[in-house]
Amino acid sequence: MTRITIKEIIKKKGKKKIPCLTAYSKTVAEVLDKYCDIILVGDSLGMVLYGNKSTREVRMDTMILHAKAVRKSTKRSLVVCDMPYKSYENKFLAYKNAKRIMKLTKCHAIKMEGGKEIVDTISFLVKKKIPVMGHVGLLPQQSRNFTYKGKTNLEKKKIFKDAVAICNSGAFAIVMECIVESLAKKITKNISVPTIGIGSSKFCDGQILVTDDMTGLSNFYPKFVKKYSNLKKIIEKSVRKYCHEVKYGKFPSSRYVYKI
Ligand code: KIV
Repeated sequence: MTRITIKEIIKKKGKKKIPCLTAYSKTVAEVLDKYCDIILVGDSLGMVLYGNKSTREVRMDTMILHAKAVRKSTKRSLVVCDMPYKSYENKFLAYKNAKRIMKLTKCHAIKMEGGKEIVDTISFLVKKKIPVMGHVGLLPQQSRNFTYKGKTNLEKKKIFKDAVAICNSGAFAIVMECIVESLAKKITKNISVPTIGIGSSKFCDGQILVTDDMTGLSNFYPKFVKKYSNLKKIIEKSVRKYCHEVKYGKFPSSRYVYKI
């Protein structure tokens, strides 16, 4: 099986949609690898897996641990690892941390949140041969207010300029989080790299969701998340049955016992 390359991802722009999801573990990565072009080891794991209030508490070592597990468990998808909060405050710090992530996890790219203010950092990393995915619109590492973006003309203009600048700095794709449909469409039309939407309409070149949200494992119900299953209910049903069987001596029955 051959691994999808960054060149192939870029070639899909305007031709084929790019399905992406997040993974933090071996089991989920193995399933996603069959279907997703990109697997993101997102710092959303801080909230989803570790129960923190924001993604700001996530540390480099935590990202490395999860990204390593995901990368090892995939053969086909391109694996992108999020740079955690404050790990890319200047280009030298960003390079040191990105290099460490790439070396220790063997991921194929890193992702950074931000607009014009991180353009120099992205160019610096790209020159040093570290592929970068951008992230504009709602920026969970900075946002206090998790609402959609592009409500005013001023905000629209800023996000548009940010996306163009990130594209021109050498990023190979840009995640666009929770931006209004008209703006998502305009950006996608006007930049040369794929846009990957999350809550940003069908007009993006690809889509991403947090896997725990779309499978119903997390308790997160924003407008843009379609629930494809309710894993929490399925797990609960199994756990309830198991506990009942243990209490009443039904499990383990002879089928599950070693005998000589
Ligand atoms: O951290 C994350 O999972 C992300 C996605 C929501 C795009 O950045």
